[in-house]
Amino acid sequence: MSPNRRRPLVGGNWKMHFLREDATNFCGAFLAGGALPADVVLFPSFPLLPTVAEALEGTDVGCGGQDLHPEDKGAHTGDVSGPQLVDAGCSWVLCGHSERRHDHGESDELVRQKAVAALRYGLTPLICVGETQAERQAERTFEVLERQLRAALSEGPATFTLAYEPVWAIGTGETATPEIAQEAHRFLRDRLTEMLGEAAAQAKRILYGGSVNPQNADELISKPDLDGFLVGGASLDPEKFLAIIRSCGSDS
Ligand code: 13P
Repeated sequence: MSPNRRRPLVGGNWKMHFLREDATNFCGAFLAGGALPADVVLFPSFPLLPTVAEALEGTDVGCGGQDLHPEDKGAHTGDVSGPQLVDAGCSWVLCGHSERRHDHGESDELVRQKAVAALRYGLTPLICVGETQAERQAERTFEVLERQLRAALSEGPATFTLAYEPVWAIGTGETATPEIAQEAHRFLRDRLTEMLGEAAAQAKRILYGGSVNPQNADELISKPDLDGFLVGGASLDPEKFLAIIRSCGSDS
């Protein structure tokens, strides 16, 4: 790894998978993997958070929620608040994952409100952006990324991490080529430079997500504007997840 490189970050988004026993077994096997060349955070579903937070206690591995409501408490059946995530042991939260945007109709403005709410409680928002297949085919990728990014950051959180997750690559086995991913990451970093200035944009970690696996991780992470991964399916297998994280330490 080049000495100037941002320290990589790898998130494991478990989505709606695992029961408590699976989560405990995963953490046991994963933590036996030893020292890792990246920061790591797991995003289990809400009922698993206390189990995972307890298993990770005293380690460097972080724990995060997959979503939060912008308000602190109230009559919002089925939602979870920032204070509840903190109370369950979280230090991170996903905001604007495409499955939330598409399954639950989350708008850019709601994503911004969620990211701001996260910061009120010291949770680091991991803001997800990405274009659909139709948007890419219509050559609207950059327009969509810029809209999502500017909306999330206008009067948005001061602290955040970004993930580029092209919707057409999520859960499909069709990974973005390293060139396509780098082009999008570079575009996002250039926009961050305009919004935050050169130094802040250079310090930001931009993760790639979408069908990342141990076979494609090496080549993806070799690109200069990729600073780690947000992994879905492969994060359910401790060996595959460890292999992806270890690829962040190679200078391929
Ligand atoms: P997959 O790795 O299963 O494609 O999921 C990516 C993702 O959505 C991570 O948030």
